[in-house]
Amino acid sequence: MTDKRFHLSWFMNFTPDEWREPFGNGGTPWDGEFYIEMAKMLDRACFDYIMIEDKLMVPEIYGGSRDLALKAAMIAPKHDPAPLAVAMGMATQHLGVIATMSTMAYPPFMLARLSSTIDSLTKGRFGWNVVTSAEDLAAQNFNMDALPPREQRYAMADEYMEVVHKLFESWEPDAVVLDRENGVYADPSKVHTIDHKGEFFNVRGPLNTVPSPQGKPVFVQAGASPRGRDFAATHADSIVSVANGIEGMKAFRDDIRARAEKLGRNPDDIKVLFCITPTLGETEKEAREKYDRVMMSDNFVTDILVSMSGITEIDFAQFDLDKPLPEKLVTNGESGTLDKFQQWGSGKTLRELAADSGGGMVSSLELIGTPDQVAERMGDAMAEVGGDGFLVTTPTLRVSRRYVVEVTDGLVPALQKRGLMRTEYKHKLLRDNLREF
Ligand SMILES: Cc1cc2nc3c(=O)[nH]c(=O)nc-3n(C[C@H](O)[C@H](O)[C@H](O)COP(=O)(O)O)c2cc1C
Repeated sequence: MTDKRFHLSWFMNFTPDEWREPFGNGGTPWDGEFYIEMAKMLDRACFDYIMIEDKLMVPEIYGGSRDLALKAAMIAPKHDPAPLAVAMGMATQHLGVIATMSTMAYPPFMLARLSSTIDSLTKGRFGWNVVTSAEDLAAQNFNMDALPPREQRYAMADEYMEVVHKLFESWEPDAVVLDRENGVYADPSKVHTIDHKGEFFNVRGPLNTVPSPQGKPVFVQAGASPRGRDFAATHADSIVSVANGIEGMKAFRDDIRARAEKLGRNPDDIKVLFCITPTLGETEKEAREKYDRVMMSDNFVTDILVSMSGITEIDFAQFDLDKPLPEKLVTNGESGTLDKFQQWGSGKTLRELAADSGGGMVSSLELIGTPDQVAERMGDAMAEVGGDGFLVTTPTLRVSRRYVVEVTDGLVPALQKRGLMRTEYKHKLLRDNLREF
Protein backbone atom coordinates (compact mmCIF):
# COMPACT_ATOMS: atom_id res chain seq x y z
CA MET A 1 0.00 0.00 0.00
CA THR A 2 1.39 3.41 -0.89
CA ASP A 3 1.93 5.96 1.86
CA LYS A 4 -0.55 8.79 1.26
CA ARG A 5 0.36 10.70 4.40
CA PHE A 6 1.15 14.40 4.27
CA HIS A 7 2.40 16.89 6.85
CA LEU A 8 0.14 19.31 8.71
CA SER A 9 1.37 22.41 10.55
CA TRP A 10 -0.13 25.67 11.82
CA PHE A 11 0.80 29.32 11.25
CA MET A 12 -0.28 31.89 13.86
CA ASN A 13 1.17 34.81 15.79
CA PHE A 14 1.60 36.05 19.37
CA THR A 15 -1.18 38.63 19.18
CA PRO A 16 -4.61 38.82 20.75
CA ASP A 17 -6.83 35.86 19.91
CA GLU A 18 -10.15 36.32 18.04
CA TRP A 19 -10.95 38.87 20.73
CA ARG A 20 -14.00 40.51 19.11
CA GLU A 21 -15.75 37.33 18.08
CA PRO A 22 -18.43 35.52 20.12
CA PHE A 23 -16.17 32.53 20.76
CA GLY A 24 -13.00 34.56 21.36
CA ASN A 25 -10.85 34.37 24.45
CA GLY A 26 -11.19 38.09 25.17
CA GLY A 27 -7.89 39.45 23.84
CA THR A 28 -5.52 39.08 26.76
CA PRO A 29 -3.43 36.01 26.16
CA TRP A 30 -0.18 37.79 27.03
CA ASP A 31 0.94 35.22 29.60
CA GLY A 32 1.09 32.77 26.70
CA GLU A 33 -1.26 30.26 28.36
CA PHE A 34 -3.78 30.41 25.53
CA TYR A 35 -1.12 29.51 22.96
CA ILE A 36 0.53 26.90 25.17
CA GLU A 37 -2.85 25.20 25.37
CA MET A 38 -3.15 25.47 21.58
CA ALA A 39 0.29 23.85 21.16
CA LYS A 40 -0.79 20.98 23.40
CA MET A 41 -3.86 20.47 21.23
CA LEU A 42 -1.70 20.33 18.09
CA ASP A 43 0.73 17.95 19.82
CA ARG A 44 -2.15 15.62 20.63
CA ALA A 45 -3.30 15.86 17.00
CA CYS A 46 0.16 14.89 15.65
CA PHE A 47 0.92 18.18 13.86
CA ASP A 48 4.48 18.61 12.59
CA TYR A 49 4.98 22.15 13.81
CA ILE A 50 3.44 25.42 14.97
CA MET A 51 4.99 28.50 13.37
CA ILE A 52 4.85 31.95 14.95
CA GLU A 53 4.76 34.90 12.54
CA ASP A 54 6.56 38.13 13.38
CA LYS A 55 6.98 41.75 12.30
CA LEU A 56 9.18 44.36 13.91
CA MET A 57 7.10 47.50 13.80
CA VAL A 58 3.75 49.09 14.59
CA PRO A 59 2.17 49.72 11.18
CA GLU A 60 1.13 53.28 10.35
CA ILE A 61 0.35 52.97 6.68
CA TYR A 62 -3.40 52.38 6.53
CA GLY A 63 -5.05 55.80 6.73
CA GLY A 64 -1.59 57.32 7.29
CA SER A 65 -1.45 56.63 11.03
CA ARG A 66 -1.17 53.95 13.69
CA ASP A 67 -4.76 54.54 14.80
CA LEU A 68 -6.64 51.93 12.82
CA ALA A 69 -3.99 49.24 13.21
CA LEU A 70 -4.00 49.68 16.98
CA LYS A 71 -7.79 49.89 17.22
CA ALA A 72 -8.16 46.68 15.24
CA ALA A 73 -5.12 45.09 16.90
CA MET A 74 -3.84 44.08 13.46
CA ILE A 75 -0.06 43.35 13.29
CA ALA A 76 0.36 45.17 16.62
CA PRO A 77 0.37 44.62 19.53
CA LYS A 78 2.50 41.53 19.09
CA HIS A 79 4.93 39.88 21.45
CA ASP A 80 8.26 38.22 20.76
CA PRO A 81 7.93 34.73 19.27
CA ALA A 82 11.14 33.24 20.71
CA PRO A 83 10.08 33.03 24.39
CA LEU A 84 6.67 31.72 23.34
CA ALA A 85 8.36 29.02 21.25
CA VAL A 86 10.27 27.98 24.37
CA ALA A 87 7.11 27.89 26.48
CA MET A 88 5.17 25.92 23.88
CA GLY A 89 8.05 23.54 23.26
CA MET A 90 8.55 22.81 26.94
CA ALA A 91 4.84 22.12 27.43
CA THR A 92 4.68 19.58 24.59
CA GLN A 93 6.34 16.27 23.72
CA HIS A 94 6.67 16.06 19.95
CA LEU A 95 5.39 19.21 18.26
CA GLY A 96 7.97 21.35 16.43
CA VAL A 97 8.03 25.03 17.38
CA ILE A 98 9.11 27.61 14.80
CA ALA A 99 9.90 31.24 15.61
CA THR A 100 10.22 33.91 12.94
CA MET A 101 13.41 35.96 13.27
CA SER A 102 14.73 38.51 10.81
CA THR A 103 18.22 38.55 9.34
CA MET A 104 17.93 42.33 9.38
CA ALA A 105 17.40 42.44 13.12
CA TYR A 106 19.57 39.86 14.85
CA PRO A 107 23.33 39.78 14.58
CA PRO A 108 24.11 36.26 13.29
CA PHE A 109 25.94 35.27 16.47
CA MET A 110 22.88 36.10 18.61
CA LEU A 111 20.57 34.24 16.24
CA ALA A 112 22.76 31.13 16.25
CA ARG A 113 23.14 31.20 20.02
CA LEU A 114 19.42 31.73 20.61
CA SER A 115 18.43 28.98 18.14
CA SER A 116 20.91 26.56 19.65
CA THR A 117 19.64 27.31 23.15
CA ILE A 118 15.97 26.88 22.22
CA ASP A 119 16.76 23.66 20.36
CA SER A 120 18.31 22.31 23.55
CA LEU A 121 15.40 23.52 25.71
CA THR A 122 12.89 21.84 23.40
CA LYS A 123 14.98 18.66 23.04
CA GLY A 124 15.51 19.09 19.31
CA ARG A 125 12.21 20.52 18.13
CA PHE A 126 13.10 24.12 17.27
CA GLY A 127 12.88 25.74 13.87
CA TRP A 128 13.67 29.21 12.57
CA ASN A 129 11.48 30.94 9.97
CA VAL A 130 14.14 32.87 8.08
CA VAL A 131 12.83 36.26 6.97
CA THR A 132 14.66 39.30 5.66
CA SER A 133 11.98 41.84 6.74
CA ALA A 134 10.10 43.86 4.19
CA GLU A 135 9.10 47.21 5.72
CA ASP A 136 10.75 50.63 5.93
CA LEU A 137 9.11 51.01 9.35
CA ALA A 138 10.97 47.92 10.55
CA ALA A 139 14.27 49.07 9.01
CA GLN A 140 13.90 52.35 10.92
CA ASN A 141 14.09 50.39 14.16
CA PHE A 142 17.52 49.11 13.15
CA ASN A 143 19.63 52.15 12.31
CA MET A 144 18.37 52.53 8.72
CA ASP A 145 16.23 55.15 7.01
CA ALA A 146 14.72 52.71 4.58
CA LEU A 147 14.65 49.06 3.71
CA PRO A 148 17.56 47.97 1.50
CA PRO A 149 16.46 46.83 -1.98
CA ARG A 150 15.40 43.17 -2.29
CA GLU A 151 18.59 42.12 -4.10
CA GLN A 152 20.75 43.49 -1.29
CA ARG A 153 18.52 41.97 1.40
CA TYR A 154 19.00 38.55 -0.12
CA ALA A 155 22.75 39.08 -0.71
CA MET A 156 23.02 39.91 2.98
CA ALA A 157 20.86 36.94 3.92
CA ASP A 158 23.09 34.61 1.84
CA GLU A 159 26.16 35.69 3.79
CA TYR A 160 24.16 35.58 7.03
CA MET A 161 23.33 31.92 6.41
CA GLU A 162 26.96 31.16 5.65
CA VAL A 163 27.92 32.68 9.00
CA VAL A 164 25.31 30.86 11.08
CA HIS A 165 26.15 27.52 9.44
CA LYS A 166 29.81 28.07 10.29
CA LEU A 167 28.84 28.97 13.87
CA PHE A 168 26.66 25.86 14.28
CA GLU A 169 29.59 23.82 12.97
CA SER A 170 32.16 25.58 15.16
CA TRP A 171 31.73 22.79 17.72
CA GLU A 172 32.32 19.32 16.36
CA PRO A 173 29.37 17.05 17.24
CA ASP A 174 31.46 15.10 19.80
CA ALA A 175 33.21 18.12 21.34
CA VAL A 176 31.48 17.65 24.71
CA VAL A 177 33.26 14.69 26.33
CA LEU A 178 32.19 15.01 30.00
CA ASP A 179 35.32 13.17 31.17
CA ARG A 180 35.14 13.57 34.98
CA GLU A 181 38.21 11.51 35.63
CA ASN A 182 40.49 13.74 33.59
CA GLY A 183 38.56 16.91 34.31
CA VAL A 184 37.58 17.60 30.69
CA TYR A 185 34.14 19.00 29.95
CA ALA A 186 34.72 19.99 26.32
CA ASP A 187 37.65 18.92 24.14
CA PRO A 188 39.32 22.20 23.12
CA SER A 189 40.71 20.65 19.94
CA LYS A 190 37.11 20.17 18.72
CA VAL A 191 35.95 23.77 19.17
CA HIS A 192 37.05 26.19 16.42
CA THR A 193 36.95 29.86 15.59
CA ILE A 194 35.26 30.61 12.28
CA ASP A 195 37.18 33.85 11.48
CA HIS A 196 34.54 35.00 9.02
CA LYS A 197 35.34 38.26 7.25
CA GLY A 198 32.80 39.13 4.60
CA GLU A 199 31.01 41.95 2.84
CA PHE A 200 28.42 42.40 5.58
CA PHE A 201 29.65 40.49 8.64
CA ASN A 202 32.84 39.93 10.58
CA VAL A 203 32.43 37.14 13.12
CA ARG A 204 35.22 35.40 14.96
CA GLY A 205 33.41 32.53 16.71
CA PRO A 206 33.27 29.92 18.04
CA LEU A 207 29.68 29.74 19.28
CA ASN A 208 29.55 29.57 23.08
CA THR A 209 26.72 27.01 23.28
CA VAL A 210 27.11 23.24 23.10
CA PRO A 211 25.82 21.50 19.95
CA SER A 212 22.03 21.23 20.27
CA PRO A 213 20.10 17.98 19.64
CA GLN A 214 19.47 18.86 15.98
CA GLY A 215 22.85 20.54 15.52
CA LYS A 216 21.09 23.27 13.57
CA PRO A 217 17.48 24.40 13.87
CA VAL A 218 15.04 23.32 11.19
CA PHE A 219 15.09 26.10 8.60
CA VAL A 220 11.73 27.32 7.32
CA GLN A 221 11.43 29.88 4.54
CA ALA A 222 8.73 31.53 2.44
CA GLY A 223 10.55 32.99 -0.56
CA ALA A 224 8.19 33.67 -3.44
CA SER A 225 10.24 35.75 -5.92
CA PRO A 226 12.78 33.92 -8.13
CA ARG A 227 15.56 35.17 -5.83
CA GLY A 228 13.57 34.14 -2.75
CA ARG A 229 12.85 30.69 -4.20
CA ASP A 230 16.54 30.05 -4.83
CA PHE A 231 17.31 31.16 -1.28
CA ALA A 232 14.62 28.84 0.08
CA ALA A 233 15.68 25.90 -2.13
CA THR A 234 19.25 26.36 -0.89
CA HIS A 235 18.53 26.46 2.84
CA ALA A 236 15.05 25.31 3.82
CA ASP A 237 13.91 22.07 5.42
CA SER A 238 10.36 23.32 4.92
CA ILE A 239 8.96 26.01 2.63
CA VAL A 240 5.63 27.67 3.31
CA SER A 241 3.65 29.20 0.49
CA VAL A 242 0.31 30.47 -0.75
CA ALA A 243 -0.61 29.22 -4.21
CA ASN A 244 -3.55 29.54 -6.57
CA GLY A 245 -5.35 26.22 -6.57
CA ILE A 246 -4.01 22.76 -7.23
CA GLU A 247 -2.18 23.78 -10.41
CA GLY A 248 -0.47 26.65 -8.63
CA MET A 249 0.60 24.38 -5.78
CA LYS A 250 1.98 21.77 -8.15
CA ALA A 251 3.83 24.36 -10.24
CA PHE A 252 5.42 25.95 -7.15
CA ARG A 253 6.49 22.63 -5.64
CA ASP A 254 7.87 21.35 -8.96
CA ASP A 255 9.81 24.60 -9.36
CA ILE A 256 11.29 24.39 -5.85
CA ARG A 257 12.27 20.76 -6.37
CA ALA A 258 13.94 21.55 -9.69
CA ARG A 259 15.87 24.42 -8.10
CA ALA A 260 16.93 22.21 -5.19
CA GLU A 261 18.16 19.48 -7.51
CA LYS A 262 20.18 22.03 -9.51
CA LEU A 263 21.72 23.19 -6.24
CA GLY A 264 22.77 19.64 -5.40
CA ARG A 265 20.14 18.97 -2.73
CA ASN A 266 17.78 16.04 -2.39
CA PRO A 267 14.35 17.63 -3.07
CA ASP A 268 12.73 15.12 -0.69
CA ASP A 269 14.52 16.91 2.17
CA ILE A 270 12.35 19.99 1.56
CA LYS A 271 8.72 19.85 2.66
CA VAL A 272 6.60 22.42 0.85
CA LEU A 273 3.49 23.28 2.88
CA PHE A 274 0.62 25.31 1.43
CA CYS A 275 -1.49 27.67 3.50
CA ILE A 276 -5.13 26.68 3.91
CA THR A 277 -8.05 27.92 5.98
CA PRO A 278 -10.62 25.15 6.20
CA THR A 279 -14.15 26.23 7.18
CA LEU A 280 -15.79 23.33 8.96
CA GLY A 281 -19.41 22.68 9.89
CA GLU A 282 -21.81 19.92 10.88
CA THR A 283 -23.19 20.18 7.36
CA GLU A 284 -21.87 21.71 4.14
CA LYS A 285 -24.64 24.31 4.30
CA GLU A 286 -23.65 25.34 7.79
CA ALA A 287 -19.99 25.63 6.79
CA ARG A 288 -20.88 27.73 3.74
CA GLU A 289 -23.04 30.08 5.84
CA LYS A 290 -20.23 30.43 8.36
CA TYR A 291 -17.77 31.29 5.61
CA ASP A 292 -20.08 33.92 4.09
CA ARG A 293 -20.79 35.41 7.52
CA VAL A 294 -17.08 35.91 8.26
CA MET A 295 -16.28 37.34 4.83
CA MET A 296 -19.13 39.85 5.06
CA SER A 297 -18.44 40.95 8.62
CA ASP A 298 -17.78 44.68 9.02
CA ASN A 299 -14.49 44.04 10.75
CA PHE A 300 -13.10 41.62 8.22
CA VAL A 301 -12.55 44.04 5.32
CA THR A 302 -10.82 46.58 7.58
CA ASP A 303 -8.66 43.93 9.26
CA ILE A 304 -7.50 42.63 5.89
CA LEU A 305 -6.75 46.09 4.49
CA VAL A 306 -4.89 47.21 7.62
CA SER A 307 -2.84 44.06 7.46
CA MET A 308 -2.19 44.34 3.69
CA SER A 309 -1.19 48.00 4.11
CA GLY A 310 1.20 47.07 6.91
CA ILE A 311 2.87 44.30 4.93
CA THR A 312 3.12 46.10 1.58
CA GLU A 313 3.47 49.68 2.88
CA ILE A 314 0.74 50.81 0.48
CA ASP A 315 -2.14 52.79 1.99
CA PHE A 316 -5.27 50.94 0.89
CA ALA A 317 -7.45 53.50 2.69
CA GLN A 318 -6.78 55.90 -0.22
CA PHE A 319 -8.75 53.71 -2.66
CA ASP A 320 -12.51 53.48 -3.14
CA LEU A 321 -13.73 50.22 -1.62
CA ASP A 322 -16.29 49.72 -4.35
CA LYS A 323 -14.05 50.28 -7.36
CA PRO A 324 -11.18 48.26 -8.84
CA LEU A 325 -7.68 49.45 -7.94
CA PRO A 326 -6.72 52.30 -10.31
CA GLU A 327 -3.29 50.92 -11.23
CA LYS A 328 -1.06 47.89 -10.77
CA LEU A 329 0.68 48.40 -7.45
CA VAL A 330 4.30 47.57 -6.70
CA THR A 331 6.27 47.29 -3.46
CA ASN A 332 9.84 46.78 -2.30
CA GLY A 333 8.28 44.69 0.48
CA GLU A 334 6.32 41.43 0.08
CA SER A 335 5.67 41.67 -3.65
CA GLY A 336 4.40 38.11 -4.04
CA THR A 337 1.78 38.71 -1.36
CA LEU A 338 0.73 41.98 -3.01
CA ASP A 339 0.41 40.39 -6.44
CA LYS A 340 -1.83 37.64 -5.13
CA PHE A 341 -3.96 40.15 -3.30
CA GLN A 342 -4.46 42.63 -6.14
CA GLN A 343 -5.36 40.02 -8.82
CA TRP A 344 -4.49 42.68 -11.40
CA GLY A 345 -6.74 42.49 -14.46
CA SER A 346 -9.59 40.71 -12.68
CA GLY A 347 -11.74 43.86 -12.53
CA LYS A 348 -12.70 43.11 -8.92
CA THR A 349 -13.45 45.92 -6.48
CA LEU A 350 -11.23 46.45 -3.47
CA ARG A 351 -14.01 45.13 -1.22
CA GLU A 352 -14.16 41.97 -3.34
CA LEU A 353 -10.38 41.63 -3.21
CA ALA A 354 -10.44 41.88 0.58
CA ALA A 355 -13.23 39.31 0.81
CA ASP A 356 -11.42 37.07 -1.68
CA SER A 357 -8.28 37.30 0.36
CA GLY A 358 -10.05 35.24 3.02
CA GLY A 359 -9.80 32.50 0.44
CA GLY A 360 -7.13 33.90 -1.87
CA MET A 361 -4.48 35.54 0.25
CA VAL A 362 -4.02 32.78 2.77
CA SER A 363 -5.70 29.84 1.16
CA SER A 364 -4.30 27.83 -1.67
CA LEU A 365 -7.49 25.82 -1.95
CA GLU A 366 -11.18 26.33 -1.13
CA LEU A 367 -12.04 24.00 1.75
CA ILE A 368 -15.60 24.48 3.02
CA GLY A 369 -17.69 21.61 4.34
CA THR A 370 -17.89 18.83 6.87
CA PRO A 371 -14.63 17.40 8.22
CA ASP A 372 -15.07 14.36 5.95
CA GLN A 373 -15.66 16.47 2.85
CA VAL A 374 -12.67 18.71 3.58
CA ALA A 375 -10.39 15.76 4.39
CA GLU A 376 -11.37 14.08 1.11
CA ARG A 377 -10.62 17.23 -0.87
CA MET A 378 -7.27 17.71 0.87
CA GLY A 379 -6.31 14.14 0.04
CA ASP A 380 -7.31 14.51 -3.61
CA ALA A 381 -5.44 17.81 -3.90
CA MET A 382 -2.25 16.47 -2.33
CA ALA A 383 -2.31 13.42 -4.61
CA GLU A 384 -2.32 15.76 -7.62
CA VAL A 385 0.29 18.13 -6.20
CA GLY A 386 2.64 15.25 -5.52
CA GLY A 387 3.01 15.52 -1.75
CA ASP A 388 4.37 17.32 1.31
CA GLY A 389 1.45 18.99 3.07
CA PHE A 390 -0.51 21.96 4.36
CA LEU A 391 -0.13 24.87 6.77
CA VAL A 392 -3.39 25.70 8.54
CA THR A 393 -3.86 29.41 9.16
CA THR A 394 -6.52 32.14 9.15
CA PRO A 395 -6.69 35.40 7.15
CA THR A 396 -5.89 37.48 10.24
CA LEU A 397 -3.65 34.75 11.73
CA ARG A 398 -5.84 34.94 14.84
CA VAL A 399 -7.45 31.89 16.32
CA SER A 400 -10.25 31.02 18.67
CA ARG A 401 -10.11 27.92 20.81
CA ARG A 402 -13.23 26.70 19.03
CA TYR A 403 -11.53 26.89 15.63
CA VAL A 404 -8.50 24.95 16.84
CA VAL A 405 -10.80 22.23 18.22
CA GLU A 406 -12.73 22.03 14.94
CA VAL A 407 -9.44 21.24 13.20
CA THR A 408 -7.83 18.99 15.83
CA ASP A 409 -10.96 17.06 16.80
CA GLY A 410 -12.93 17.21 13.55
CA LEU A 411 -10.64 17.48 10.56
CA VAL A 412 -7.61 15.59 11.90
CA PRO A 413 -9.51 12.37 12.77
CA ALA A 414 -11.13 12.52 9.30
CA LEU A 415 -7.65 12.78 7.74
CA GLN A 416 -6.27 10.01 9.92
CA LYS A 417 -9.18 7.71 9.04
CA ARG A 418 -8.18 8.06 5.39
CA GLY A 419 -4.51 7.34 6.06
CA LEU A 420 -3.62 10.93 5.13
CA MET A 421 -2.02 11.97 8.40
CA ARG A 422 0.19 10.34 11.04
CA THR A 423 -1.55 8.85 14.09
CA GLU A 424 1.60 8.85 16.21
CA TYR A 425 5.04 10.44 16.14
CA LYS A 426 7.92 8.12 15.23
CA HIS A 427 10.84 10.42 16.08
CA LYS A 428 12.05 12.79 18.76
CA LEU A 429 13.64 15.42 16.51
CA LEU A 430 11.57 17.78 14.37
CA ARG A 431 13.80 17.30 11.31
CA ASP A 432 13.37 13.51 11.53
CA ASN A 433 9.58 13.83 11.77
CA LEU A 434 9.61 16.05 8.70
CA ARG A 435 11.69 13.53 6.75
CA GLU A 436 9.66 10.49 7.84
CA PHE A 437 7.49 10.67 4.70
C1 LIG B 1 3.19 31.62 4.92
C2 LIG B 1 4.09 32.81 4.95
C3 LIG B 1 4.59 33.24 6.16
C4 LIG B 1 5.42 34.36 6.25
N1 LIG B 1 5.82 34.80 7.48
C5 LIG B 1 6.50 35.97 7.57
C6 LIG B 1 6.81 36.52 8.85
O1 LIG B 1 6.46 35.98 9.90
N2 LIG B 1 7.51 37.68 8.89
C7 LIG B 1 7.93 38.32 7.77
O2 LIG B 1 8.56 39.37 7.87
N3 LIG B 1 7.65 37.82 6.54
C8 LIG B 1 6.94 36.67 6.42
N4 LIG B 1 6.61 36.17 5.17
C9 LIG B 1 7.15 36.82 3.97
C10 LIG B 1 8.25 35.99 3.33
O3 LIG B 1 9.34 35.84 4.22
C11 LIG B 1 8.71 36.61 2.02
O4 LIG B 1 9.27 37.87 2.21
C12 LIG B 1 7.53 36.75 1.08
O5 LIG B 1 6.94 35.50 0.89
C13 LIG B 1 7.94 37.36 -0.24
O6 LIG B 1 8.92 36.58 -0.87
P1 LIG B 1 10.12 37.30 -1.57
O7 LIG B 1 10.94 37.90 -0.48
O8 LIG B 1 10.85 36.21 -2.31
O9 LIG B 1 9.51 38.33 -2.47
C14 LIG B 1 5.77 35.05 5.07
C15 LIG B 1 5.28 34.60 3.84
C16 LIG B 1 4.44 33.49 3.77
C17 LIG B 1 3.91 33.05 2.43
